[in-house]
Amino acid sequence: MSKDLYNIILTPDPVLKTTAAPVDKVDDTIRKQMDRMLATMYEAPGIGLAANQVGILNRVLVMDLADREGGEKCEPIFMANPQLIYESEEPSVMLEGCLSLPGANADVERPAIVRVKYLDYNGNEAELEATGLLSHCVQHEMDHLDGTLFIDYLSSLKRNMVLKKVDKYKKQNNIL
Ligand code: NI
Repeated sequence: MSKDLYNIILTPDPVLKTTAAPVDKVDDTIRKQMDRMLATMYEAPGIGLAANQVGILNRVLVMDLADREGGEKCEPIFMANPQLIYESEEPSVMLEGCLSLPGANADVERPAIVRVKYLDYNGNEAELEATGLLSHCVQHEMDHLDGTLFIDYLSSLKRNMVLKKVDKYKKQNNIL
């Protein structure tokens, strides 16, 4: 292995249910974490990854939808301390998956449009307005920082179906 990647934490692990703490600033240590998270996300592959998922409890996330059809074309997005500053009344339903719950997905309803304030890779204040897949993605990743998973929005019946699929996936891939 030449790449310096994190291990992705799978459910059930308490770190995925824990609220992460804000960072003081975006310094070289945080930038290194962001780079390593992005490389880990690309390798998985996935379109978003939050710090909890690599066992770090700070409010950092990375996203890149560029390879996904139907997603807005974008470059990697790095966020520290993201805050929701607007959410639309209008909802959107999309199929979501999660690198911490491999082998399963489910429809999740969220606000269709959100605006997020955050610190970017250089530590500057930035804003993102997101619709479509990017909106679902940024809300999903911000949820991780509060210890929330997409299955928390499902009925217990659907949640159990997803968790059974994850168990099956783990067994098939010899993941303990
Ligand atoms: Ni996720």
